[in-house]
Amino acid sequence: MPALVLLGAQWGDEGKGKATDLLGGSVDYVVRYQGGNNAGHTVVVGDQKYALHLLPSGILSPGCTPVIGNGVVVDPSVLLSELSGLNERGVDTSKLLLSGNAHIITPYNVTVDKVTERFLGKRKIGTTGRGIGPTYADKINRVGIRVQDLYDESILTQKVEAALDVKNQILTKLYNRRAIAVDQVVEELLGYADKLAPYVADTVLVLNQALEEDKVVLFEGGQGTLLDIDHGTYPFVTSSNPTAGGACTGAGVGPTKISRVIGILKAYTTRVGAGPFPTELFDEDGEALRRIGGERGVTTGRDRRCGWFDAVIARYATRVNGLTDFFLTKLDVLTGWEQIPVCVAYEIDGKRVEELPYSQTDFHHAKPVYEMLPGWNEDISKAKSFADLPKNAQSYVKALEEMSGAPISAIGVGPGRDETIEINSFL
Ligand code: IMP
Repeated sequence: MPALVLLGAQWGDEGKGKATDLLGGSVDYVVRYQGGNNAGHTVVVGDQKYALHLLPSGILSPGCTPVIGNGVVVDPSVLLSELSGLNERGVDTSKLLLSGNAHIITPYNVTVDKVTERFLGKRKIGTTGRGIGPTYADKINRVGIRVQDLYDESILTQKVEAALDVKNQILTKLYNRRAIAVDQVVEELLGYADKLAPYVADTVLVLNQALEEDKVVLFEGGQGTLLDIDHGTYPFVTSSNPTAGGACTGAGVGPTKISRVIGILKAYTTRVGAGPFPTELFDEDGEALRRIGGERGVTTGRDRRCGWFDAVIARYATRVNGLTDFFLTKLDVLTGWEQIPVCVAYEIDGKRVEELPYSQTDFHHAKPVYEMLPGWNEDISKAKSFADLPKNAQSYVKALEEMSGAPISAIGVGPGRDETIEINSFL
């Protein structure tokens, strides 16, 4: 019953795509359990580079069944164009399974996301503008549209009516926008029904049966721990639960079935969008991390904010996810610095604080307390084992491991599929 959860331990973009893809060969199912096309995975296979937003990265491994779980929000037009884009490049996508209970990002959810952000002005969240928050809001308000609704026109029409009743009032009266016509939305959504039909399945049943049969199931989180609606830097978060518990609700698998929880941890820190970020750099080091690390959003094309590694956050991620392992990514990006600062604690209003403060105000005031670790100059991209790393790179990894509270079981030393050092097997 090997059920692994793989999730971001920071603010997302830690390099999960590479990690899931690396495991993909030995994994039977790769499941996305939350988020939508706000995520962005870059997977490099040979000389081919794939940018995935909604599809689980297991889609690139022939033996693997990719699953979009009930906890995901799905924009059908994005899903279909991602599928046809892969088909054009010769990737077989026929094994994909899509939960009939997953919620649909409707065109009006995308509109509401954009106008709300505009309305918030300088208080905006910096969302990806893909309709994620409004779709989850509809789900919680019980006016959401689910994949299964596409197969009952009468129900679909009633549900779209119910959702638009209130939204059109808000759009026209508050935001000064034109009302959205029910018929138009229903027609657009029905147009997706036949194309999606081959993929729609009872994914909860499929996954639980797979676990009974001892198949290897990998649950792949989008975004990251600090973007979690409950455990992240609220309100500068996404509207779902990327943390480990989200895998259970978002895929319909009980917590007793999860055997391993792997946190993906970048060797430094990045963040997209607004919100506090204690180790953020505004100098040439930050610029260098952005340039060398290629820190530009796969989904939005926005430059990522960059900073040094923050061990307080890593410890927090270990705690709220019950992490059993870390996958440290992009260690190669740090090559060439004489000394590398690592944030070991915060100073908040003159006091040293070792753990992430629960108070948003305190976190906004947190200043990093740095320890300097010696850097290295050697090219590490060809390293195949831990022993191949220069001594200072080994010490950097060991120090991070000690501060973060879980073993580092794999290290990414380059973007390619094979540029990874495996220390402990995940399976
Ligand atoms: P939303 O998920 O589009 O609602 O955006 C909410 C916040 O999460 C914004 O700060 C986004 O930049 C951030 N965000 C959403 N998805 C990702 C991701 O995959 N990586 C990093 N940040 C993300």
